[in-house]
Amino acid sequence: MKKALIIFSGGLDTTVCVPMMREEGYEEITTVLVDVGQPRADIEQAAERAAILKTDHYALDVRDEFAADYCFPAIHANADYFGYPLSTSIARPLIAMRAAQKGVELGAELFVHGCTGKGNDQFRLEHGLRMFAPDVPITAPIREKNLTRTWEIEYAKKVGAPIGQSTDKIWSIDENFWGRSIEGGRLEEPGYAPPEHIFEWTKSFDDAPNEPQTVEIEFVNGDPVSIDGEKLDPHALILKANEIAGNHGVGRIDMMEDRMIGLKVRENYECPGATLLIAAHKALEELISTHEERQFKALVDQQWAEMAYKGLWWDPFMEDLNAFIGSVQKRVTGKVRMTLFKSSMKVAGRDSDWALYSEAAASFDDDEVLEQSQMTGMVRTHGMASQIYFGIKNK
Ligand code: ARG
Repeated sequence: MKKALIIFSGGLDTTVCVPMMREEGYEEITTVLVDVGQPRADIEQAAERAAILKTDHYALDVRDEFAADYCFPAIHANADYFGYPLSTSIARPLIAMRAAQKGVELGAELFVHGCTGKGNDQFRLEHGLRMFAPDVPITAPIREKNLTRTWEIEYAKKVGAPIGQSTDKIWSIDENFWGRSIEGGRLEEPGYAPPEHIFEWTKSFDDAPNEPQTVEIEFVNGDPVSIDGEKLDPHALILKANEIAGNHGVGRIDMMEDRMIGLKVRENYECPGATLLIAAHKALEELISTHEERQFKALVDQQWAEMAYKGLWWDPFMEDLNAFIGSVQKRVTGKVRMTLFKSSMKVAGRDSDWALYSEAAASFDDDEVLEQSQMTGMVRTHGMASQIYFGIKNK
């Protein structure tokens, strides 16, 4: 009996893949849902649909691992791809790795995923599968057969596959606790204003509280460990950060995104917790790192974001970047207070035993740590090359 494993979400695309693969002669179908914090209702629906389709279904809960080993490294790298904290991107390697391992364990002869040919996820997922199961072939029926949504719905009805209300769904939503991506339909047009109802985690400016809130986030070696004095594990801490920032309407991202295949698309995200935690982490690095470290880390962080966006999580370059980032994190220990108010956020205060800031040296009243008069000679040589050049030019 031929065995195929489908990376399953229970949505229209992956649901129609089940009867399609059966038609191709794969009698034993395994559906694997890797749980990185999708809505509980979606996870239940996937299990129900798998039961109706009579697949061998697994829901693998990797939420703690996702928080500690994927979201926290993203905080260390101040994850930012042109404004996007990489929520979908960093979940894909973990989803692919766990699905690949399950497939190897069960002896799957084919991997199936529901990506279309226009997005980034096809690259990220297939790369992850090839990393951990290099010998198993991969197929993406929606992409390979150029299927449209309308065709899929007709087909599902014809073969009696459970698709429920999916006809009504206008947006394509991808969700994990690091962020929510809402795309598709008119939302991809740069000129279309996103309607308020696409947002579920963040309040609008009008609905956000009229009182500001200040929260204190404590970091140890770059990891956020507590919020307002309450110690929380990585997963719980991110959920709490989502709740606090989302309540104040912080973390809505409306941007133009350059996809891997060269398409420029308008994207909408809600990443309240990621936005808050990364801003606080950056604020602490600003206090602790030297000028050269900050300058260089900005470049390293940018490269990290590029690699993460492409799903190249296990690349040697990623290891190199992580080595530098990790070295800096050894001192990123301290507390940051952030004030949230009406869709905005600012740093209210920060302290650390590693702070390079010296009040005595910076103060105008000081004459001991740095005697002003000693600066005269140093200032005189500043811009000497420009001065010489200017002289030559105007000869
Ligand atoms: N454009 C984003 C990325 O490539 C999000 C993709 C999420 N997919 C979706 N169906 N909403 O990371």
